[in-house]
Amino acid sequence: MSATPAPRVTVTTLRKMKREGEKIVMLTAYDASFAKVLDAQGVDVILVGDSLGMVIQGHDTTVPVTMDEMVYHTRAVTRTAAHALVIGDLPFMSYTSLDMALRNSARLMQEGRAQMVKLEGGAPQVATVSQLAHHGVPVCAHLGLQPQSVHKLGGYRVQGRDEAVAKQMLDDAKALQDAGADLLVLECVPVSLAEQITQALEIPVIGIGAGRGCDGQVLVLHDMLGISPRAPKFSQDFIGTGATIPQAVASYVQAVKAGTFPQDQHCFF
Ligand code: KIV
Repeated sequence: MSATPAPRVTVTTLRKMKREGEKIVMLTAYDASFAKVLDAQGVDVILVGDSLGMVIQGHDTTVPVTMDEMVYHTRAVTRTAAHALVIGDLPFMSYTSLDMALRNSARLMQEGRAQMVKLEGGAPQVATVSQLAHHGVPVCAHLGLQPQSVHKLGGYRVQGRDEAVAKQMLDDAKALQDAGADLLVLECVPVSLAEQITQALEIPVIGIGAGRGCDGQVLVLHDMLGISPRAPKFSQDFIGTGATIPQAVASYVQAVKAGTFPQDQHCFF
């Protein structure tokens, strides 16, 4: 008799994990083969990130990624991810009006079969998150370093070291939660600020370069498999010299669940 497949992770599962102190493991994937490996190794959430612009398409930034490309990759991932909750990323300029945000989220969910969408931004996105939530769209917000704004920021930098920016980030996080966001990604944020935001929110907070105090961790798949030519400081090569890809993913899952990743050398203070 075959084993009963693990049930799909949902927003309810993620909130329960936060309440019970179980770390949430998130990893990016962009195709069916890798999604199947991640799913089999117990990754809780698969993010079809617009980071695919860099690691799949070879661009310098995520800015050139289009809506059609996001739908294509999200559909590939959802064909094989049976357990993990799958998030489809709304790319640059695809949610500049409420109407666009609704239409493009519908594409990620209906054509791509995603169970959640992700968008970048704080206060300016509160109305959009509220509308999406009102229409039954689960939303993952993204604060701290927002890669879609890299040209405006002048580079990839830690965000929130300045006291006023840190306060704004905390206020934005609360406002996004109140508007109906189900999850929050914090990217490149000092450890103490990420801890403060995580403790202030009821929704789970997933860190990338944001320390161990978050409710979970996310990495870009190609960074943690040692494929990216210049992996960021906050990542770790889990494949090392001997592991297979499933073993590397399993090590990452284990390290996040045990709270042994990230270490101080992956963090900003
Ligand atoms: O696009 C992406 O992969 C992301 C992660 C870095 C969080 O947004």
